[in-house]
Amino acid sequence: MDLEIGGSLEEASADALVVGVRVGREADEDGRWLIERLPWLEAAMDDADFTGKKGQLLTTAGGGVVPYRKVVLVGLGDAPVDPEAVRRAAGSAAKALSRLATIATTLHAPPGMAEAVGFGFTLGSYTFVKHKSEKKPSLIERLVLIDGSDEQLAAARVGALIAAGVGFARDLVNEPAIGMPPAVLADAASRMADEVGLGVRVLDEDEIAAERLGGLQGVAMGADNPARLVELRWEPEGATGFLAFVGKGIVFDSGGLSLKPAEAMERMKTDMSGAAAVFAAMRVIAELKLPVKVVAFAPLTENMPGGGALRPGDVLQIRNGKTIEVLNTDAEGRLVLADALVLAAEESPDLIVDLATLTGSCIVALGERIAGLMGTDEAVRRVTTAADAAGERVWRLPLPDDYRKNIDSDVADMKNTGGRYGGAINAALLLKEFVGDAPWAHLDIAGPARTFTEADHYLTKGGTGFGVRTLVELARRTADGS
Ligand code: BES
Ligand code: MN
Ligand code: ZN
Repeated sequence: MDLEIGGSLEEASADALVVGVRVGREADEDGRWLIERLPWLEAAMDDADFTGKKGQLLTTAGGGVVPYRKVVLVGLGDAPVDPEAVRRAAGSAAKALSRLATIATTLHAPPGMAEAVGFGFTLGSYTFVKHKSEKKPSLIERLVLIDGSDEQLAAARVGALIAAGVGFARDLVNEPAIGMPPAVLADAASRMADEVGLGVRVLDEDEIAAERLGGLQGVAMGADNPARLVELRWEPEGATGFLAFVGKGIVFDSGGLSLKPAEAMERMKTDMSGAAAVFAAMRVIAELKLPVKVVAFAPLTENMPGGGALRPGDVLQIRNGKTIEVLNTDAEGRLVLADALVLAAEESPDLIVDLATLTGSCIVALGERIAGLMGTDEAVRRVTTAADAAGERVWRLPLPDDYRKNIDSDVADMKNTGGRYGGAINAALLLKEFVGDAPWAHLDIAGPARTFTEADHYLTKGGTGFGVRTLVELARRTADGS
């Protein structure tokens, strides 16, 4: 999608015009211009009960009296307008207008909203049509910012670039596991890294063994497709701050010998959403040339019940020497993350953030749309601030010391299950054993990594790319020294 600056409402022209309306239908100058020319507009709003509430969208004809075939009103909610309302409104408009080529908008007019406009229109145009015989991608080619400034255009382009990164993550997540074994996912990450100038190293199965990544090796035992570990590096000159990202990359989670029931397996191609988010965030950070050092680790494997599979009762040794008794092979994410977190901690970054579709119990706790956030205080604070600014919803869960006994093992340093209750916390308490003294935040994205049923605003069914925006925002803030 090309972004450009347009003249006034009267001078510009496009297939459709998208205008934001706040609750109370307060019209600015542009709104009044429209109402003057489209005398039916008020009645159309009445008929549709359009009040300007968030999520509302009303399409009407341009009627030959304005240089737009269609005029679309999107609700922004109460004043003051917040960026997430604009992202969502732009996303809804992009979906509603996907058959048109050129869209003009005034949504960027309130101060600080241009990035959200570029983001929302771009992500709202995302489709995954690769495997459809009749492909219907979005046809939107151009986005025109009415009366836009150079600064607004630049900001909108940054938003579009971040959205393209989110789309990259979605593509990786949505691809069926048959087309995305660990080696293929690692290749996709490597190719991306070469394109944007990231350092990259991919460990194969022999190197994984040589590096003593016992958790990753153990989970990979039941799979015919060999495991990989991807390491990405962004080390610009004059960097401020040092971040490490870790992403769970289970390309398919059958549960292993502790096999999942059929229905629970249906969407388990998305169990590499953490890795996908980390790859995409690294891509955006490199494209924006952010002056911050970032390393990323993603352990990639299938969790399968093959003849060589890990058995309940087996004990694995993680890279830092600690041992884990595997009582349930479906609690595999924490096993592969343990090794990757040790690798991250060895780099001595000032913050480690891991993203993982880790537990069903986090979905039980927080629902489908909010990620669980756990970790050390300052790390949690930094991630919360970044997530809030980026428009991704996270909520902190505690890591109480006295729950550590839930994962005590009779035969090893810990076990990989923790009883019936508090599953998201028990999983995070295991991860905590592998980060050493590093400031660390863990995002359990089992819920928000993909949509289950509906797909409103800029979301589509399937992968959401959740986490990309938070990581990019965190890197921007770190680069700024905040
Ligand atoms: N990948 C799953 C978690 C998950 C469940 C993600 C549903 C998205 C939707 C994870 O590997 C898993 O199976 N966790 C188990 C852990 C349990 C066996 C201790 C779970 O949450 O049931
Ligand atoms: Mn599992
Ligand atoms: Zn899993």
